[in-house]
Amino acid sequence: MLDGRKLLSNVVASQVEVHARFGGVVPELASRKHVEAISIVINSALQEAGVQLAQIEGVGVTRGPGLIGALLVGLSAAKALAWGLEIPLAAVHHMEGHVLAPLLEQPLEFPFLALAVSGGHSHLYRVDGIGRYRTLGQTLDDAAGEAYDKVAKLLGLGYPGGAQIDRLAAQGDPQAVVFPRPMLHKPNFDFSFSGIKTAVLQYVGTCRSPISEQQQADIAAGFQTAMVDVLTRKTLRAALAEGLERVVVAGGVACNAGLRRRFAELGAEHGIQICFPSPALCGDNAAMLGVPADFYLENGRHAGPAVNAVSSWSLDLAGAS
Ligand code: KG4
Ligand code: ZN
Repeated sequence: MLDGRKLLSNVVASQVEVHARFGGVVPELASRKHVEAISIVINSALQEAGVQLAQIEGVGVTRGPGLIGALLVGLSAAKALAWGLEIPLAAVHHMEGHVLAPLLEQPLEFPFLALAVSGGHSHLYRVDGIGRYRTLGQTLDDAAGEAYDKVAKLLGLGYPGGAQIDRLAAQGDPQAVVFPRPMLHKPNFDFSFSGIKTAVLQYVGTCRSPISEQQQADIAAGFQTAMVDVLTRKTLRAALAEGLERVVVAGGVACNAGLRRRFAELGAEHGIQICFPSPALCGDNAAMLGVPADFYLENGRHAGPAVNAVSSWSLDLAGAS
């Protein structure tokens, strides 16, 4: 990373195969796999970038929110690097990495609205600058990615199921089964996805078992249409209410083809610029953390030795700490 914007390497160690057997993330296994991977990932990131350890001027790491065991592995490695090399450390919020990821690929002016949709988050943030975030709305129950993964499980697809539902949805009829759009008409910017998931569960219960491939595709298409409808319409409404002309859609669910297509249509219709990071920067990755980390390193907001990992942490407070 140069100037917090130029990407030299982005190495991701996936644990999907380890957790797929269990149908979801097993926290203890996640921590152990982080321990196994961390040195290998750091070394290959340096190698790909063609950079020596001694050339590094600062270290950025996320300290939360998330699974505490996995976060501690990253944070401990970052602390060891920073203090071993006598260079500063910046500890950033996981979601500020997601919402700032587009800056690695394109110039983007502040302020903008960010829809962050991942396995643990479905949040709408107003972003006035790096470190200046305000939550406008969030899910009251399941995150969007969690709903995708649970519906995929119901349909007998593997974990994580978001991408598989997305693929299946393209082969189904979105009008064949119509699922509810929770909270769509509530005058706020919050979401709720557990009702859509329950509606899918109930519908699957009425189908003759085993469900046919066409039925599976129709359910995926109906579910995806409901999710995309709620996410896009509430986001657009928030952008218009806040007078924001730019929207960033970030997090693993931002890979979704249906979501990308519908946002592009609505953005053109309303004169709102919609920015999606490329798929490699939507899912979890270390490069996205470099954007805020570089800014905090430059501005002297360095983390001290007592900095700790946190499982829950509001993004609104991240810029202030
Ligand atoms: O941001 P991310 O990689 O990790 C978290 O911070 O949670 O997001 C992972 C989530 C998973 O729930 C996964 O199913 C979902 O992103 N996802 C998708 C797609 N690709 C990944 N959901 C819908 N459509 C996709 N194409
Ligand atoms: Zn994430």
